[in-house]
Amino acid sequence: MTADYKVHGDVAVITLNNPPVNGLGLATRLAFAAGLNQANADAAVKAIVITGAGKAFSGGADIKEFGSPKAVQEPNLLSLILACENSSKPVVAAIHSVCMGGGLELSLGCHYRIAAPGCSVALPEVKLGLIPGAGGTQRLPRVLGVEVALNMIVSGEPIKSEMLAMLPGQKLFDKMAASTETLMDEAFALAREKADQRPLPLVRNLPCKHPLGDAYFQFARNMVKGMSKNFPAPAKCVDAVEAATKQKFDAGMVTERETFMALMLTPESKALRHIFVADRAASKIPDVPADTAQRVIKSVAVIGAGTMGGGISMNFLNAGIPVKILEMKQEALDKGIGIMRKNYESQVKKGKLKQDKYEQRMALLSTTLSYDDLKDADMVIEAVFEEMGVKEKVFKELDRVMKPGAILASNTSTLDVNKIASFTARPQDVVGLHFFSPANVMKLLEVVRGEKTAKDVMATVMAVGKKIKKTSVVSGVCDGFIGNRMVEQYGRQGGFLLDEGCTPAQVDKAIEKFGFAMGPFRMGDLAGNDIGWAIRKRRSVERADMKYSKTADLLCEKGRFGQKVGMGWYDYLAGKRDAVPNAEVVTMIEDYRASKGIKPRKVSDEEIVQRLVFALVNEGARILEEGIASKASDIDMVYLMGYGFPIYRGGPMNYADQVGLFNVVQSMKKFAQNPLDDAKFWEPAPLLAKLAAEGKTFN
Ligand code: NAI
Repeated sequence: MTADYKVHGDVAVITLNNPPVNGLGLATRLAFAAGLNQANADAAVKAIVITGAGKAFSGGADIKEFGSPKAVQEPNLLSLILACENSSKPVVAAIHSVCMGGGLELSLGCHYRIAAPGCSVALPEVKLGLIPGAGGTQRLPRVLGVEVALNMIVSGEPIKSEMLAMLPGQKLFDKMAASTETLMDEAFALAREKADQRPLPLVRNLPCKHPLGDAYFQFARNMVKGMSKNFPAPAKCVDAVEAATKQKFDAGMVTERETFMALMLTPESKALRHIFVADRAASKIPDVPADTAQRVIKSVAVIGAGTMGGGISMNFLNAGIPVKILEMKQEALDKGIGIMRKNYESQVKKGKLKQDKYEQRMALLSTTLSYDDLKDADMVIEAVFEEMGVKEKVFKELDRVMKPGAILASNTSTLDVNKIASFTARPQDVVGLHFFSPANVMKLLEVVRGEKTAKDVMATVMAVGKKIKKTSVVSGVCDGFIGNRMVEQYGRQGGFLLDEGCTPAQVDKAIEKFGFAMGPFRMGDLAGNDIGWAIRKRRSVERADMKYSKTADLLCEKGRFGQKVGMGWYDYLAGKRDAVPNAEVVTMIEDYRASKGIKPRKVSDEEIVQRLVFALVNEGARILEEGIASKASDIDMVYLMGYGFPIYRGGPMNYADQVGLFNVVQSMKKFAQNPLDDAKFWEPAPLLAKLAAEGKTFN
């Protein structure tokens, strides 16, 4: 059922019924149109009320239909809205809970609107790189005034119905209901009151002007331009609302439609729509059904109060879940807790956190030096030193003390989670939870599924991830999991580029211009160059055939570990994060080049970007092929949420799809010819080669 039709005395009610949010997909639109016709044809019906079943009036268009023929198939949203306007009997929208996008646009085609308090009202299309496409930009300014409407359209943010109802002169709501419970009775009363009133009022007939005219739109345009670099849609919102003030209603509608259709084709909107779908898809694990019973997580223990342990703990405290931290020594506990306090206090100082909230959170925290104190925790997350021997000791202790059914998680960033699980007699309860630093800030959580991890453990940790507001992505077990395994190839290309003639600043600038938050060398300085150094030392035994530039090792031999010591690829002034190029580092690279007999060449920004990004793509394809990631969009989410990949490009796999996989493979073949690069690496992953040959995409 997608819309229900009922008659109450002389009032017909059409109830959108398409859970979860009454999206206006084709089937729903058909049922709605049929209801409207039936009501108009029934002489006993004097007025019509439209509303939504369950937890929404309507959340808007069905995003799955975007860009497909179904979206425009009749009755499309524009014709439904026209049908409401043209109804010979008054149509009253009874709005509650959620009224967004196409839902709000539909209500604006009704003759009257009554809203319950507490309803979230928004035109969020801009978040998908679009403008409202069914009259929102033309009708909302007519009922709320140009400024409020433009604000809502450019931000896409919801506002509560009762706040909108308080705006002087607003015509969005003819009436506010006392509550959601009384909404329908009050809507019936309003419908009966208006049953004989003619002519029926239409939003399109209301005037639309701003007293400052052009000047106001110039201000708005300047403001929006400054804030929405790289995204075309916000500026187009201004244009469309300006059209509402300058053009006749129908002409304004044409302007809106044309702008909407043009934005639909932009890579930015495609990327944002991809992310919207990818985000929802990431939480679904193919072989773990949505109704898998979950374990109850009411308390958490954390082992290690270092950089990660402290940040991880804060996530749970913020979500109201008690945390007990264990350390080896009291001093380490004191130090770790001190840093957490400092973090919270700086949030209080900035006005981001209320003092009483801070105290409530800290009151949920307790500490211990003894494993026996942890036995009642529902989940424990280990964040001790990255050494298998240390992990072994910790997991043996956890296996000894933790209650049956407790989830045992490791925050390891490189070690084998299956091996860690084997230290216990309950490998089904062991899982990797790879947080990113700073763990209380970064949105990404890689959930590392071991060979034996139980399905209900997976379902539980995905739900826990949601509770602590992370974007959780499932990864299989491999060295580096999804994110770090790919970033290693990206970093390796950065090194080869230095060998061939680039400076760190040139490489960083090129990829930052492409849209990355930070280039590979600034990122190395932030994370600590010594971490990669340690990994390479370990690898020189395990993966001696892996070719890489020695410049990063030379840098570390000079003690240039990065920001934490004030020098790395760049210099850093105390207390500042600005990366200042260092002549000595450039000379070091030049000397290395000379020692290898390499004649430097000028590398174009385009080549820099392609080599760095396609390195991610090729390794991503291998990860997909091996089943380490179950979908290409999961890889995109890892890079968008954890590695500063530009949002408007939708992640590396989406970007490759947009460039065309055939073109990507051609470039790789060219890079493989470069004797200073790694020809073996640039062999396109079989999956990539196959998709490219078939003219297909990852997503
Ligand atoms: P850290 O050195 O800041 O903290 C480790 C803490 O564990 C120290 O306070 C230490 O006293 C404590 N510890 C060591 N052995 C212990 C034991 N047997 N029992 C109890 N406490 C013990 O290290 P960090 O950076 O917090 O890393 C911890 C884990 O998180 C490692 O596995 C690391 O690979 C992983 N990780 C680190 C990231 C980072 O950016 N720092 C990112 C993601 C994961």
